[in-house]
Amino acid sequence: MNKSLCRISGEPLTEVLDLGSQPLGNGFLAKDEFQKEYSYRMAMGFCDTSKMFQLIEQPTPEQMFHENYAFYSSTSSYMEQHFLEFADYVKGSQYLSRNDPFVVELGCNDGIMLKNFSSEGIRHLGIEPSRNVAEVANTKGVRTLSEFFCESVAEKIVREEGRADAFLAANVMCHIPDMNGVVKGIRTMLKPTGVVMFEDPYLGDVIEKTSYDQIYDEHVFLFSAHSVQYMFGLQGMELIDVLPQKTHGGSMRYVLAHIGAYTVNDSVVRLLQKEKAIGLDRLETFENFRRNVEQSRSDLVKLLREIKSKGKRIAGYGATSKSTTILNYCNIGPDLIEYISDTTPIKQGKFTPGMHIPVKPYDAFQKNPPDYAVLFAWNHAEEIMAKEKAFMGAGGQWIVHVPKVQVF
Ligand code: TYD
Repeated sequence: MNKSLCRISGEPLTEVLDLGSQPLGNGFLAKDEFQKEYSYRMAMGFCDTSKMFQLIEQPTPEQMFHENYAFYSSTSSYMEQHFLEFADYVKGSQYLSRNDPFVVELGCNDGIMLKNFSSEGIRHLGIEPSRNVAEVANTKGVRTLSEFFCESVAEKIVREEGRADAFLAANVMCHIPDMNGVVKGIRTMLKPTGVVMFEDPYLGDVIEKTSYDQIYDEHVFLFSAHSVQYMFGLQGMELIDVLPQKTHGGSMRYVLAHIGAYTVNDSVVRLLQKEKAIGLDRLETFENFRRNVEQSRSDLVKLLREIKSKGKRIAGYGATSKSTTILNYCNIGPDLIEYISDTTPIKQGKFTPGMHIPVKPYDAFQKNPPDYAVLFAWNHAEEIMAKEKAFMGAGGQWIVHVPKVQVF
């Protein structure tokens, strides 16, 4: 496939943002791996036909989701709560049949959501390409296949287990380059009354907050209601509901069904109108976004240099994939940020992708706090502020870049 064509419509993409040479967002690595570190040019394009905002080039899924993939969902208590609520929403919805419902989740990670179905004996199946993560789910009693989902996998599941009432995905769909193949697979998997419910970071929030750190190798698409409607429309499906979510700095839950199976909720009409009003369907919006991203970079670098020139110490809080984009795009290394504290054991003792800032356990932050902490996990701000009273009480200050670069 020509890399400059839209993955959904096949029409030419217009390049709107170049974030330079970037490593894998979640590719935390050891010193002896620096030499062979992978990088690629990370640029985004917009398709005027599908309205899809997408990466122009992307590493292969095998490069990204491998044996040592360093992301386990169940590391945040807020996310645990969120997935409990998502599961409750599904169970309480009109879409599950009363008699032996079957729920499938794509990219179930370590079972953070499906365990809420398995614990009640609801028939379920997780599909998770990272084998190490899938094993964790299985040991928690969440029945999980380690596969890359596509139409033939869907057909196999239908043959062996029947069609699904609900097909769920959270922070997964935007990762999948062969989206048309996956949407075909979803259509195959669903009963005539079945629904797909998925959520991902919402393009409207990204544009509004200049949160360009949502762009990294794994996020091949940033969806809007317009682009989701288009890509499912190609397979005879339509949006029937949309529900904004606070997670990941602003996400959207999309509910879709076979065309005509359900009444379309007013929320869909309202969101499509709002997206037109803020220009998510137009190229100029993305050109303006690029200017805002460039401004954000110069503001952040200027601020960090000023702080450093006063002899103050700066650390990062949360070695997120998002931080990889910021650090590499802004060329921020260990000269400006001493270390990044992170609670995920598999990241600790490693270095950040590309810029090679040491990742230290949370303990390091507590024992030897910096003067300033860059809140790279800004999407968890509420949870973090609640537990970092001691840091703030001792005069520690936060730096964030969304919705604009600021200290607080
Ligand atoms: P996440 O929100 O998944 O961001 P991304 O998708 O960009 O990788 O990751 C949050 C990271 O922040 C994760 O590595 C755990 C870490 N973290 C902390 O170190 N302390 C905290 O209190 C929280 C909430 C997260």
